[in-house]
Amino acid sequence: MSESAKLSFKGQEFEFPVITGTENESAIDIAKLRSESGLITLDPGYKNTGATKSAITFLDGEEGILRYRGYRIEDLAEKSTFLEVSYLLIYGELPTQSEYENFSKEITHHTLVHEDIKKILEGFPSNAHPMGVLSSLICALTAFYPDSLNPNRNIEEVNLSIIRLIAKMPTFAAWAYKNEMGHPVNYPDNSLDYCSNFLKMMFALPAEKYDVDPVVSSALDKLLILHADHEQNCSTSTVRIVGSSQASIYASISAGINALWGPLHGGANQSVIEMLEAIKADGGDAKKYLDKAKDKNDPFRLMGFGHRVYKNFDPRAKIIKKAADDVLEKLGVNDPILEIAKELEFAALNDQYFIDRQLYPNVDFYSGIIYRALGIPTDMFTVMFALGRLPGWIAQWKEMRENNEPIGRPRQVYTGANERDYVSMNRR
Ligand code: MLT
Repeated sequence: MSESAKLSFKGQEFEFPVITGTENESAIDIAKLRSESGLITLDPGYKNTGATKSAITFLDGEEGILRYRGYRIEDLAEKSTFLEVSYLLIYGELPTQSEYENFSKEITHHTLVHEDIKKILEGFPSNAHPMGVLSSLICALTAFYPDSLNPNRNIEEVNLSIIRLIAKMPTFAAWAYKNEMGHPVNYPDNSLDYCSNFLKMMFALPAEKYDVDPVVSSALDKLLILHADHEQNCSTSTVRIVGSSQASIYASISAGINALWGPLHGGANQSVIEMLEAIKADGGDAKKYLDKAKDKNDPFRLMGFGHRVYKNFDPRAKIIKKAADDVLEKLGVNDPILEIAKELEFAALNDQYFIDRQLYPNVDFYSGIIYRALGIPTDMFTVMFALGRLPGWIAQWKEMRENNEPIGRPRQVYTGANERDYVSMNRR
């Protein structure tokens, strides 16, 4: 027996089907709402509106649950690798050994980028934010692979674009950093694993031997897993809506990078460190800033606390917190910024004011701390988020296109001027 929901409006009754997902979430299917009742719904920020049905990621904000294709994030972060998780998200199942080896080989084979990319890179001033460089270089792939503009590409051609994206994004990210530093770029070293190759491209300097610290590479792999997908967040919704116009996957992912850049989304991890540095510069009194955060007349807000979806805790934050503690201990990091962070964290987890408002440390709070401990520069934090989120964006774009979802075109409630006559000012 299928469920339904009734709506009464101006003396009329309307009934709409209710669909239920595999985790017993229910939604009113309002596809015929406007044609039958003349009504639309209004939901700024879409907090109560489902844009699609998806089989990729399930999260439960009340229970603090996050699963990729049914696998618990805790298990994947502990036991899997970023490339295995990328394959899982994109193709729906964990790869067999031969599938994994082929996937890894394909990615390794495509890490190099066209030399002309360097001409684009050299056009950016050294103060260009790496996120702007990254989104530009990803979109530039449409120029090097114009066949990607064909919306009717077969699955082999789409898979090649997917491989190119996963393979080249670390190269672009590292090159964006090198451009900012005014250093020569490093070419990929295909003898290294995914994260080690990225770290070497980021930090190796000419005429100096660079050995990747396995502790850093392993921690980075875990961080990328934790950021790999998060259902219909702002940047993923951007990728979907751009892709829904049949724009190329490169243009869609570039749009997602730009959406992630905002301080309310992926930029939050950079804002966390900037907040901690500001507290340190002002004497390092964490309690002063905790009191400011409580003062409703004070504009100061704690960055990296609370979450739009998770009501009690962000499961990724719990995992990253442990990883941060491990990395700081293994690397012997002693950073006054991190001491301030621990004071804020303790207060958020023990002060009733923050507990009542569910202002607990989220994934951005701890990821900012761990990236800093790994030596990642602050304005590269959001680039790291993009590197992790890439397979999720790809999986969601692929699902949307395979399901032949319609072009995204929301409605509105008009609140502007009513019809009025134009009176010429004889300005011609
Ligand atoms: C994310 O992982 O995308 C962020 O937690 C934001 C969100 O899910 O809304």
